Amino acid sequence: MTSATIPGLDPDSAPTKHAELLRWVAEVAELTQPDRVVWSDGSDAEWDRLTADLQAAGTITKLNEEKKPNSFLAHSDPADVARVESRTFICSHREEDAGPTNNWVDPAEMRATMTELYRGCMRGRTMFVIPFCMGPLGAEDPKLGVEITDSEYVVLSMRVMTRVGPKVVEALGEDRFFVKALHSLGAPLEEGQADVPWPCNSTKYITHFPEEREIWSFGSGYGGNALLGKKCYSLRIASAMAHDEGWLAEHMLILKLISPEDKAYYIAAAFPSACGKTNLAMIQPTIPGWRAETLGDDIAWMRFGKDGRLYAVNPEFGFFGVAPGTNWSSNPNAMKTVEAGNTIYTNVAKTDDGDVWWEGLEGEHDHLIDWRGQDWTPDSDGPAAHPNSRYCTPMSQCPIMAPEWDDPQGVPISAILFGGRRKTTVPLVTEARDWQHGVFMGATVGSEQTAAAEGKVGTVRRDPMAMLPFLGYNVGDYLQHWIDIGKNADESKLPKVFYVNWFRRGDDKRFLWPGFGENSRVLKWIVERIEGSASGVETPIGVVATPEALDLDGLDVDVQDVAESLAVNVDEWREEIPSIEEWFSFVGDKLPSGIADEFSALKQRLS
Ligand code: GTP
Ligand code: MN
Ligand code: MN
Repeated sequence: MTSATIPGLDPDSAPTKHAELLRWVAEVAELTQPDRVVWSDGSDAEWDRLTADLQAAGTITKLNEEKKPNSFLAHSDPADVARVESRTFICSHREEDAGPTNNWVDPAEMRATMTELYRGCMRGRTMFVIPFCMGPLGAEDPKLGVEITDSEYVVLSMRVMTRVGPKVVEALGEDRFFVKALHSLGAPLEEGQADVPWPCNSTKYITHFPEEREIWSFGSGYGGNALLGKKCYSLRIASAMAHDEGWLAEHMLILKLISPEDKAYYIAAAFPSACGKTNLAMIQPTIPGWRAETLGDDIAWMRFGKDGRLYAVNPEFGFFGVAPGTNWSSNPNAMKTVEAGNTIYTNVAKTDDGDVWWEGLEGEHDHLIDWRGQDWTPDSDGPAAHPNSRYCTPMSQCPIMAPEWDDPQGVPISAILFGGRRKTTVPLVTEARDWQHGVFMGATVGSEQTAAAEGKVGTVRRDPMAMLPFLGYNVGDYLQHWIDIGKNADESKLPKVFYVNWFRRGDDKRFLWPGFGENSRVLKWIVERIEGSASGVETPIGVVATPEALDLDGLDVDVQDVAESLAVNVDEWREEIPSIEEWFSFVGDKLPSGIADEFSALKQRLS
């Protein structure tokens, strides 16, 4: 088919006069040969039409309207359940600009390979064009994108996770820059060929061209690989933009903490995946008088305001949260958000009355349909919900959203927290000595591998600023960028940096700190450090809280455990040195001298 014969491709029927966008849409349609082209408008009518189509195709099931209004359950192909780091590429012009933490292929070679994969890959399917915006549309420089996809599931999920619709088309105007984000399931249908419920391809590529700000994704329908506004744009491409333009794109939650005196403090925190961002973002403080509101649970974009402070916005519009472990006691606000409806669940289990269930959720069931679509009883092997099953739900439904969550100005950040999952060594909370020391802390973030992942259990994987899988450029340049942010700022206005560890364990493996809502006690100490009113002890690794300085009123734990959770054991820290050394030598020549200086100073203090 030529462009003239692909229904919907006629530029006169397009909702835009943006020449470059129209040119690109025609080019992709001619390459991929869809049956028709449809411009997504993000409307309720479109939602109803596509959810009906996907139910007919067997991709999604409608849940019980009374329990989960306007909500759907998708079961993916069992081989398409997570981000594929080994198939994720940063194709910068020069290899060193991607390395050493990313996969790299020469961009010309990658484009040639993927162009052949894309040839005819949408045959028998609809090609959707989705204009979207990351961050508030009212921003001075709204971050626009257009995703082309042949997946209805992607169209529905993008409506939840990003800002879409006619206002975005308006913002694009006739020549506004946008990120080109091309996605295909890679599953063309020949004449008369029956479709499968979850089309995908065993060959997968999640490719980024950081200099051209382009994303090419092929073969997967899973969220992190297919909803290109999220990790691909808002972290990998945006981190490269931020490096060029002097801002930060980070894997961070944004939280507002309100003191009994009604003073608000905004806190951003970076923890690796599955280390508690979504939980902390929606915290319910246990200390009387303190309240929390949320602005985001996964991504923060931070830039300097006119007053010299660092302001954060959340580029997303929805939560794409891990379901297992989420329940009415661990995260009641997430539960209320999904209960409000309009939610797409992927790979959770279904109850006999058309509701959802996952491991860790309240309620017991004698029979379920598991994430593979099979009968499940408590005697079955394996979990009912996939460990990486997710809910995709509108942020606006969260009962504790801060009113300013949609403000294009963002919010001024008072503290940045880094953290990971460490059963030893790392205290509950440590304050960095200054910005550069804080960057060193972020650069050495480590988290223990769980039994579920490859690698030795308990092995610490270094994950700088929790960005290891999401960096769009060289990690050494990234760390230098963090140092430069501090150099170019008035240090008194910069956020204070802290390192937290909710996961330290006692000799019988119990957690030394109760965590979750009780983490508000740590947040209170952090706020009091900002105000200069809390004490701490100087240690070789920074200023650490003491049990006396923490508000432990009404907390039902052994103070000895709290003391242990805060202990700085010099021997343990000396054991940490070779592993940091190994990590820094992997980073290589681009390791900033400021970071090397901090490491030498730490070694000095420990000797
Ligand atoms: P991504 O969404 O994948 O980026 O991860 P995330 O950082 O949002 O992780 P999430 O909040 O889904 O991680 C939840 C995991 O951390 C669960 O296993 C929780 O039980 C655990 N967790 C969260 N907060 C705490 C805490 O304060 N203490 C303890 N012990 N575990 C916690
Ligand atoms: Mn999360
Ligand atoms: Mn994440």
